Amino acid sequence: MIKKGIILAGGNGTRMSPLTKAVNKQLLPLYDKPLIFYSLSILMLSKIKDVLIIVNKGQLEQYKKVLPNGKNLGMNISYKEQEKPNGLPEAFLIGEDFIKNDNVALILGDNFFYAQNLTSILIEATKLNKGSQVILHKVNKPELYGVATIRKKKIVSIREKPKKFISDKAITGLYFFDNKVIKYSKKLKKSKRNEFEITDLLKKYNKQNKLKYKELGRGAVWLDTGSIEDFHNASSFVSTIENRQGIKIACLEEIALNNNWISKKEIKTSIKFYGKCDYSNYLKSFL
Ligand code: DAU
Repeated sequence: MIKKGIILAGGNGTRMSPLTKAVNKQLLPLYDKPLIFYSLSILMLSKIKDVLIIVNKGQLEQYKKVLPNGKNLGMNISYKEQEKPNGLPEAFLIGEDFIKNDNVALILGDNFFYAQNLTSILIEATKLNKGSQVILHKVNKPELYGVATIRKKKIVSIREKPKKFISDKAITGLYFFDNKVIKYSKKLKKSKRNEFEITDLLKKYNKQNKLKYKELGRGAVWLDTGSIEDFHNASSFVSTIENRQGIKIACLEEIALNNNWISKKEIKTSIKFYGKCDYSNYLKSFL
């Protein structure tokens, strides 16, 4: 079982400068909420209560202003800093004390998921005992991602940002690992781009036939918000759905309430915390 999750929310966000000069990318608004709410909501839908958020050195206080400790969500949220963006697997070294002997999920703070059957896929993935699992999704520009080639329902190769086409199945930024991930991460070597690569970690699991995958179908939406254009498109998507349906995507308190982690009392506290705003008005509908 997986009961712990890490959100990797560091990085320099240089591609989005000047927006990211003063504020970390994951705190910028994706329509009506900070971007990090969306990745946190995915862990919450996976019923993961214990979350470590890894942020850039010096930016901890910014995050704590909006997500103090998880109490208002019935969760346990803690923080660690990353000195510099050395690569995604560093999350397991920075998070070693947090993970202890447990299995762990990792989500990148800039990934966005929206799909009809997402919760059941997530719950299924958290049943993992041994090995690892990734979520794949077809994309138009696989050269921008880690990709996996599938043959006879098995992953036969994995590449990080392949220049030549090998597959259009991108490996999304949501990963489920057993506890060996700490040991394996310690042994990784830096790639040509001078980073520890998550795809090298996945290759290790795959070599031992310990890497499973689930593919999100064409009705699902997976967006990453790496560039200003991606960010803008994801924002428009959220706005379109929310305004059409009168629901909110990634309303953390709503998910916590549905999970029975909080009661109406905490919703009231959250309304006070956020103040008079559209998000609070939405929360009032649960009272
Ligand atoms: O989005 C999925 C993709 O994420 C995967 O398909 C790739 O295999 C994986 O390498 C990763 O690729 P990116 O090029 O998108 O990774 P990027 O360096 O942009 O980092 C993703 C997020 O993680 C970003 O919000 C910053 C944060 N980050 C990144 C690094 C390298 C950290 O917090 N610390 C880091 O050391």
